[in-house]
Amino acid sequence: MDSRSARPWLKALGITIWQRREPGAADHAPESRADANGWGRLKEEVQSCVRCGLHAGRTQTVFGIGPRNATWCFVGEAPGAEEDRRGEPFVGRAGQLLDAMLRALGLDRGQVFIANVLKCRPPGNRDPQPSEVAACLPYLRTQIATVRPRVVVALGRFAAQSLLATDQPLGRLRGPLHDYEGIPVVVTYHPAYLLRRPADKAAAWVDLKRAREIVTNE
Ligand code: URA
Repeated sequence: MDSRSARPWLKALGITIWQRREPGAADHAPESRADANGWGRLKEEVQSCVRCGLHAGRTQTVFGIGPRNATWCFVGEAPGAEEDRRGEPFVGRAGQLLDAMLRALGLDRGQVFIANVLKCRPPGNRDPQPSEVAACLPYLRTQIATVRPRVVVALGRFAAQSLLATDQPLGRLRGPLHDYEGIPVVVTYHPAYLLRRPADKAAAWVDLKRAREIVTNE
């Protein structure tokens, strides 16, 4: 008797049937009110943050967007002008490319969690300073700990170096699979870089397929 046809018998005998859990089923368990409250508090904390000087120049903070139980998490560097204006990450030209990358993976923006290392826009889109990253990174760490995605895709050098606490160049970080608090991290090019160097899109696609394999095979 195979296990499927045995089920009614086992049930009738009052024997609990343990079923193999589909990958990620627990990740999509309904969220408790406590989780939702914690997330709301984190949002408020970010909104009123004055931990570094960037608060003085912001229109608004850019917390991040997406389901709190998303399977995929994409991490960028910092909001640009358009993101600062709209309060949402990756809504400018780089964001359009990110959306296209998501579509290529069969995903859309509503299904993934997207956030940046910095929640406020650096003036003139300059590079984040180490003190700004140190002040802001705990927010991202809490976000990732809450979402517990099956994979994190680090978009560009700043995201990768900040999450992985390394100063290795992007060229060394791309390729190997990394670990962040038990979550696999795939490093790829930042969409803004790919807009300048479209020839590297093929390599980015290899990275994204790697991330998809992780999600599918886990
Ligand atoms: N670049 C980033 O790293 N993040 C954004 O939100 C937009 C552009």
